[in-house]
Amino acid sequence: MTHAPNSLAARDLAYSLHPYTNLAVHQERGPFVITRGEGIYVYDDQDNQYIEGLAGLWCTGLGFSEKRLFKAAQTQFEQLPFSHSFAHRATIPVIELSEKMIEIAPGDLSKVYLVNSGSEAVDTAIKMVWYYHNAIGKPEKKKIISRKRAYHGVTVAAGSLTALPYAQDGFDLPIDRILHTDTPCFYRNGEEGESEEDFATRLADNLDKQIEAEGPGTVGGFIAEPVMGAGGVMLPPDTYFEKIQKVLKKHNVLMIADEVICGFGRTGQMWGCDTYDIKPDLLTCAKQLSSAYLPIGAVMVTEPVYEAFVEYSRKLGIFGTGNTYGGHPVAAAVALETLKIYEDDDIMGHVNEVSVRFQQRLAGLASHPLVGEARGIGLIGGVEIVANKETREQFPPATKAAAVVAEKILGQKLIVRPLPGDVIGICPPLIVTDEEIDDIFDRIKRGLNAAQESLG
Ligand SMILES: Cc1ncc(COP(=O)(O)O)c(C=O)c1O
Repeated sequence: MTHAPNSLAARDLAYSLHPYTNLAVHQERGPFVITRGEGIYVYDDQDNQYIEGLAGLWCTGLGFSEKRLFKAAQTQFEQLPFSHSFAHRATIPVIELSEKMIEIAPGDLSKVYLVNSGSEAVDTAIKMVWYYHNAIGKPEKKKIISRKRAYHGVTVAAGSLTALPYAQDGFDLPIDRILHTDTPCFYRNGEEGESEEDFATRLADNLDKQIEAEGPGTVGGFIAEPVMGAGGVMLPPDTYFEKIQKVLKKHNVLMIADEVICGFGRTGQMWGCDTYDIKPDLLTCAKQLSSAYLPIGAVMVTEPVYEAFVEYSRKLGIFGTGNTYGGHPVAAAVALETLKIYEDDDIMGHVNEVSVRFQQRLAGLASHPLVGEARGIGLIGGVEIVANKETREQFPPATKAAAVVAEKILGQKLIVRPLPGDVIGICPPLIVTDEEIDDIFDRIKRGLNAAQESLG
């Protein structure tokens, strides 16, 4: 395709290197330019309106036009556009945000460390697990266990915890000291005649055996999303986290809950940890922390972990990690305002109300000939595309069935995301209404019908 000289498309092709994009295909088809947003809608450069059915990248909880956030940013820009938190420095927005985050944090988390993204949060959590075990005199306890099909980000260590070929191929990942255990996907990995609870028991037993085989003295951390998002929207089977946490306790392995997608209401409660009764030693979050209006993420830790850091930094002379923009005052002010809006507008109550409709309509897709399973919780859903509903056989990988479906749904002016395992991810802004949910699922249905014609 040729693009007019000096058009946005031509300039994009001339100068931009796109993340998570087939660069060769991009040269042919050019960019999909988004120019503005309003509520749950975004508009392209031809002023076509789309529903953002993935809240950007699972992140714009408050949609695209929350004026209180514009105001919070402007006020903080005028007051203090930059300062940092190194070497005892502090700012008011960071103090207030940290206080608020601990007020709403799950379990026994008591301290907040701010970063700029989910990957940075996960990378920092890994460093913290290593620092902690050095601090308590267990320097061998360093391996981190993630799960197959997990998504935890792209930086060298976080990208190693991610266990998806598309995110690792060509980049020499994973690095060593990273292990992967079973995917908790009952639909794909449950055995004939096995109940969800038995499946959870089997996975916990496998984890126990894996830790024993590695040597419990060498395993320091386990990381899990409460609901796996980017890997294909997979919900934990009944009793999974209860059993997994028992195994971790038995071997003194720290639990890292990666709440980058689940945090701030996505599963119907403030945290996925609340929904699934997880008591993390460390928690990573980002995305809906600021409704994605500015980049910010965080790691939260419990008091015993923090106290070990204090003693070790006394010995080393420093807790030697930090990012220039970690705890950027403008991002912190916007995040704080986001949390206030969640409270003032009772966003959790709203999610609980509208998620009833969302889950009903999602479940309604299960009868479509292309749908093997439609699964979800709160305002997140995954639709697994299959070639044969009875046998659960998938389309050949070359068919790129989920991409075909997502493209047809895009034809209905709804943005969703094709995920590994031929799953369509649906994750609208948390402010979505019942009427908008009906509109979303009507468009998905039309898109599925169109895809059925082309997939045969
Ligand atoms: C669970 C999870 N962890 C970490 C990340 C990485 O976050 P970021 O893209 O902000 O680096 C993501 C991104 O989608 C995520 O879904």
